[in-house]
Amino acid sequence: MTGFWSGRRVVVTGGAGFLGRVVVRKLEELGATVAVPRSRDYDLTQPGVAERLLADTTPTHVVHLAARVGGIGYNQVEPAPLYLHNLLMGTHMIEAARMAPSVDKTVLLGTVCSYPKFTPVPFREESLWDGYPEETNAPYGIAKKAHLIHAQVNAQQYGQKFAYLIPTNLYGPGDKFHPSVSHVIPARIKRCVEAVEQGETKLDVWGTGTASREYLYVEDAAEAIVLAAETYEGTDPVNLGNNREVTIRETVELIAQMVGYTGDLVWDPTKPDGQPRRRVDPSRAEALFGWRAQMPFEDGLRRTIDWYLANRAEAEREP
Ligand SMILES: NC(=O)c1ccc[n+]([C@@H]2O[C@H](COP(=O)([O-])OP(=O)(O)OC[C@H]3O[C@@H](n4cnc5c(N)ncnc54)[C@H](OP(=O)(O)O)[C@@H]3O)[C@@H](O)[C@H]2O)c1
Repeated sequence: MTGFWSGRRVVVTGGAGFLGRVVVRKLEELGATVAVPRSRDYDLTQPGVAERLLADTTPTHVVHLAARVGGIGYNQVEPAPLYLHNLLMGTHMIEAARMAPSVDKTVLLGTVCSYPKFTPVPFREESLWDGYPEETNAPYGIAKKAHLIHAQVNAQQYGQKFAYLIPTNLYGPGDKFHPSVSHVIPARIKRCVEAVEQGETKLDVWGTGTASREYLYVEDAAEAIVLAAETYEGTDPVNLGNNREVTIRETVELIAQMVGYTGDLVWDPTKPDGQPRRRVDPSRAEALFGWRAQMPFEDGLRRTIDWYLANRAEAEREP
């Protein structure tokens, strides 16, 4: 990738977020000039703001990561903004990028939450439209999926260039540990660490533990975004995953073991499991732009726990 990014100007919306910070660092290391708009200055849900952002920054590339994102609890209490804000932000950015003379390509982030609730495992991109998503994920997943259609029709009619990537659940250093938005890995790390500190012998965990997830290390996801921004020219969506399915029970037991929690885990089947199974087929990403996830899950988890223990105030900051 050396050389390509030198002299390019990139806007990374959501560039101050969990994934965004890593993408920004990688692009800057490769020589790009990166603008990171903050929501307080550029609220992308508002009409005209995306156009103003691109006029102010004249980027060659747009990486659109800005989103409202959270775990299953957040999805349950905030379904309306999860749908509307995500839909509006992507719609505004796609359209503004199409109209901006400087923009060559736009990278859009989809989500594994867009897949139908019951999808043959591993999820292939062809299955994206074969059914309704798991109910708690649907507002977010459908809003994100609409951006794919928007980008595809713009490509067909106006020749707009884009890449649409579908990552599985992200994790890693820099993740959000505040309970209002945390996903399963940071939520469980925080609770297990607290349980050890407070000498608790019983820890409640949502769901049955039988649902499965696939976790993608944040550095691997960022690497794919940069690669796709440089080299991928197609209009088909592309999965990003690490090819390993882990049950929630295995996830929580591994975290408990790594942080030294030896008490009981009490599963609460009255709380939702979310989607029953998740693992994507990542072979298209390798075939189209030579990407493959590198981080083994145990190593990534260890790094995440170490980062959390060293940065608790920052990790637990209220969003
Ligand atoms: N985390 C995951 O497990 C996961 C999995 C699959 C896909 N994704 C996708 O990956 C992308 C990044 O996720 P993330 O976990 O890094 O999210 P994050 O840490 O919550 O960051 C999201 C960023 O979006 C910005 N934003 C929110 N509302 C905005 C608005 N109205 N106008 C402008 N900017 C706004 C925020 O900027 P400010 O800080 O300036 O407010 C924030 O930094 C998202 O598109 C998400 O859908 C994430």
